Amino acid sequence: MSAGNKRGAFIVMEGLDRSGKSTQAARLLERLQRADARVKLLKFPDRTTGIGITIDSYLRSESELDDRAIHLLFSANRWELASSIEESLRAGSTVLCDRYAFSGIAFSAAKGLPYEWCRAPDISLPAPDVTIFLDITPEKAKQRGGYGEERYEKEEMQRMVREVFQRIGSETSREQRWVVVDAGQDIDLVTEDIWRIVEPLVSGVLGPVTRLWE
Ligand code: TMP
Ligand code: MG
Repeated sequence: MSAGNKRGAFIVMEGLDRSGKSTQAARLLERLQRADARVKLLKFPDRTTGIGITIDSYLRSESELDDRAIHLLFSANRWELASSIEESLRAGSTVLCDRYAFSGIAFSAAKGLPYEWCRAPDISLPAPDVTIFLDITPEKAKQRGGYGEERYEKEEMQRMVREVFQRIGSETSREQRWVVVDAGQDIDLVTEDIWRIVEPLVSGVLGPVTRLWE
């Protein structure tokens, strides 16, 4: 990263299950490292923390939880890492995040919880500088390997999740950019589209870390 008062960029990737997010995040990580950026890759839910272990068990249908309770745990799982995200950004690292608060809203609202209620616990989290939405139809996602293993991997659910993601995108402010990438195209083309969005941010961004929906 170049000198001056720049901080690291906060980049979030979002999408339906089997949209190719994790594959693309891994490719992006490698490319950022090659471009000599200090970079941290995070994934939400972070299944390694105490809260994350509870979430993991729920997602694998090994336990049941009230819809609101699990929603708040997903949010708490972000809050427990929020200060370390900010520290990394301030120290000049790029932070790349596989899912974030937008998944929190999309999946819980798709289950029928009120949109504003779903958004509330994530207000004031560190805001991404860009969110890359890997857009795929639920039909295409379904054809991909491993589909159906976890709780939410059902076509009807994913259809509603996509609709909520589209609403989030349409309501995202100019500063907190939401960029849609066609995730149904050839995997290498997806990688190139993502790189075009991220490359200008590799050298860091000016200004303080902003906060979600403030
Ligand atoms: P993963 O497949 O990326 O590991 O995510 C696990 C599932 O959890 C996925 O179906 C999306 C869902 N999810 C929520 O319901 N709320 C959240 O806040 C997050 C981060 C994920
Ligand atoms: Mg999944």
